[in-house]
Amino acid sequence: MRTKFPEQSLTIATDLVLPGETNPLNNMFGGELLARMDKTAGICARRHCRRIVVTASVNHVAFNKAIPVGSVVTIEAKVSRAFSSAMEIYMDVWIEDRESGHRTKANEGIYTFVAVDETGTPVRVPKIAPQTDLEKQRFDSALRRKQLSLILAGKMDPKDADELKKLFA
Ligand SMILES: CC(C)(COP(=O)(O)OP(=O)(O)OC[C@H]1O[C@@H](n2cnc3c(N)ncnc32)[C@H](O)[C@@H]1OP(=O)(O)O)[C@@H](O)C(=O)NCCC(=O)NCCS
Repeated sequence: MRTKFPEQSLTIATDLVLPGETNPLNNMFGGELLARMDKTAGICARRHCRRIVVTASVNHVAFNKAIPVGSVVTIEAKVSRAFSSAMEIYMDVWIEDRESGHRTKANEGIYTFVAVDETGTPVRVPKIAPQTDLEKQRFDSALRRKQLSLILAGKMDPKDADELKKLFA
């Protein structure tokens, strides 16, 4: 399987925040953003592996900045690391000022998708070769996040999380 680059999975989704998608403070409802990120990440993962993909984990989402109704929200997703069948998708969420067009980073999200066949059995995906400094940084830290996610899901014994343990060494 040929190694691919993060840029080949780049997926950009831009949409408005409508009144029905907000909380009582007239800011975007968190679940709405999670759903948009899930769809964007799913397309991104599919572009990397060209297989059926399913969401395995929402690893991290930071709701750092409220997104007011009427905002134009852009989610940019790339595969940050591909393992055997799992892919980590790293997303940056931007909002843009109506008058100046200036973009502000509102949130980040990290999801894990798994490529499967028609029976739902995991299948191998192409490896990925990060190119930019940011891509390399996200690639390097992805194994730690995978191990943490597996521990939280009860699928890995913390004793086996070698990469994670290095953080505390
Ligand atoms: C995700 C799923 C395919 C994993 O299947 P599984 O039988 O656990 O298979 P495996 O244990 O071989 O895991 C497959 C890969 O996913 C990774 N993985 C599984 N659970 C994970 C988690 N919680 N966090 C991070 N990675 C995870 C494994 O480490 C493995 O990675 P690798 O093959 O790259 O090494 C299966 O659990 C599933 O179908 N879940 C439901 C998915 C779904 O319906 N999503 C929508 C929710 S509404």
